[in-house]
Amino acid sequence: MNGRVAALIPAAGMGTRLGEAIPKAFVEIGGVTLLELSAAAARRSGVVDQIVVAAPAELIERAAALVPDAIVVRGGTQRSDSVRAGLAAAADAELILVHDAARALTPPELFATVVAALRGGARAVVPGVPVADTLKRVDADGIVLGTPDRGELRAVQTPQGFTADLLHSAHRGGGDATDDAGLVEQMGVPVHVVPGDAMAFKVTTPFDLALARLIAEQRSGRSDRS
Ligand code: CTP
Ligand code: MG
Repeated sequence: MNGRVAALIPAAGMGTRLGEAIPKAFVEIGGVTLLELSAAAARRSGVVDQIVVAAPAELIERAAALVPDAIVVRGGTQRSDSVRAGLAAAADAELILVHDAARALTPPELFATVVAALRGGARAVVPGVPVADTLKRVDADGIVLGTPDRGELRAVQTPQGFTADLLHSAHRGGGDATDDAGLVEQMGVPVHVVPGDAMAFKVTTPFDLALARLIAEQRSGRSDRS
């Protein structure tokens, strides 16, 4: 399969946990918005033909100005609503990569890794990294219910890649999941995990933003010296 690849970037979230005055995708690190950085990584991967951005209603024009080569659609209340809005605009793609705007430092190579796994025959591919902390299941009273075997756990990132027909059917029935693979799992379709990358972390909290800014600063310092 050598059809067109679309990168669908959900960027319509409010960033409540980050707590900035503007929606998270429009927050800057090193003077560049998270949305621009994420779109640039997709473009630089060399495997993406088309970029679709789901933006907050009041920032559609701003998003279009930041990512001029993208189709910009109006996002929805939940992340999956935003993905569904973007899917309608990616109608002619054969493969679709869904990539959080908030994972702004994702290496372009990760897009290529996911596409390679799809071209190799997988219908659903997610990047995953081993979990460093021991995780506990805890009840509402704060009592530990159990300790899942860490060796079996992966922290899953984006870009998550799918054949377009599969992603369309996963979203057709509505439904909500914190990631797109969750909907595909519910259909009983195998989801393949490829090695993720620590730099694909999601900017969620003020700590993450500070980390991303430090990394950006260090990188620009390095390129200034070279
Ligand atoms: N997203 C979206 N539409 C929504 C909610 C989220 O497009 N209704 C996007 C976000 O912009 C982000 C990605 O989905 O790029 C991952 O979501 P998350 O990190 O949860 O971002 P927010 O929902 O903005 O943050 P929070 O949950 O803290 O409000
Ligand atoms: Mg959210």
